[in-house]
Amino acid sequence: MRAQCRPTLNLKQIQDDKADSQFNYKLPFLLNYGTIKAMNEKAENITIRKMESEDIDRIIEIEEQAYGSHHWSKASFFQELSNELAWYYSLINSENKLVAYAGTWHILEEAHITNIAVAKDYRHHGYGEALLKHIVDDCYKEKIKYITLEVRVSNTPAINLYTKYGFSSFGLRKKYYQDNNEDAMIMWTKNIFYDEFKIPFEKLSKKLEEKILING
Ligand SMILES: CC(C)(COP(=O)(O)OP(=O)(O)OC[C@H]1O[C@@H](n2cnc3c(N)ncnc32)[C@H](O)[C@@H]1OP(=O)(O)O)[C@@H](O)C(=O)NCCC(=O)NCCS
Repeated sequence: MRAQCRPTLNLKQIQDDKADSQFNYKLPFLLNYGTIKAMNEKAENITIRKMESEDIDRIIEIEEQAYGSHHWSKASFFQELSNELAWYYSLINSENKLVAYAGTWHILEEAHITNIAVAKDYRHHGYGEALLKHIVDDCYKEKIKYITLEVRVSNTPAINLYTKYGFSSFGLRKKYYQDNNEDAMIMWTKNIFYDEFKIPFEKLSKKLEEKILING
């Protein structure tokens, strides 16, 4: 299976990444991440819930829009739904339509984003951001400290989204994507329990919640 962000679950590579990086392993403080959401009448109500096998036909439609002929197969998604490391989410908008999804693997103290995509007609509504926020919130709940992913170097929308949320580049994997030999940028967060990540994340979350109320 060729993933959109990370093609294979390669623990050796993950260990190498960690050895190369310059993380500062300080003790995390206890997070008191509030669940209070100011009710804003103008905000759109959406739901982010666990992906279900019934979602997969619609998800394949969005995959095709997002990745063309290199999209994942139905079998890949079914495989992911039975992968015990995997957390997959579907986003249902206020019209009750599945318009976006994302997936991560939780491996010890790290989360690896494997995929995040929004249907073409529904981009720029903040749904990519809502999914990323949901991923980070789950990482807090699961006491995961770091989040990582790979992204095509040409994928400006995705790189901007991740950069906005505190990810930075930790180097390239040369010719990582086999379809066109494109390099992958490896991105990591800092420890998400540190103020350096947490304070801007909370500000962004608040701003997003003025626009979108996330149920789930
Ligand atoms: C990347 C993607 C998920 C963004 O989803 P989205 O719902 O359209 O994005 P949002 O509306 O939440 O935008 C959030 C931020 O992303 C960045 N962004 C989104 N679209 C962008 C674009 N076309 N150009 C530049 N930056 C963009 C911006 O930083 C934006 O913040 P801003 O509104 O303050 O400028 C979407 O473009 C997509 O599905 N792309 C195809 C699949 C893909 O490449 N996935 C990533 C694989 S690693």
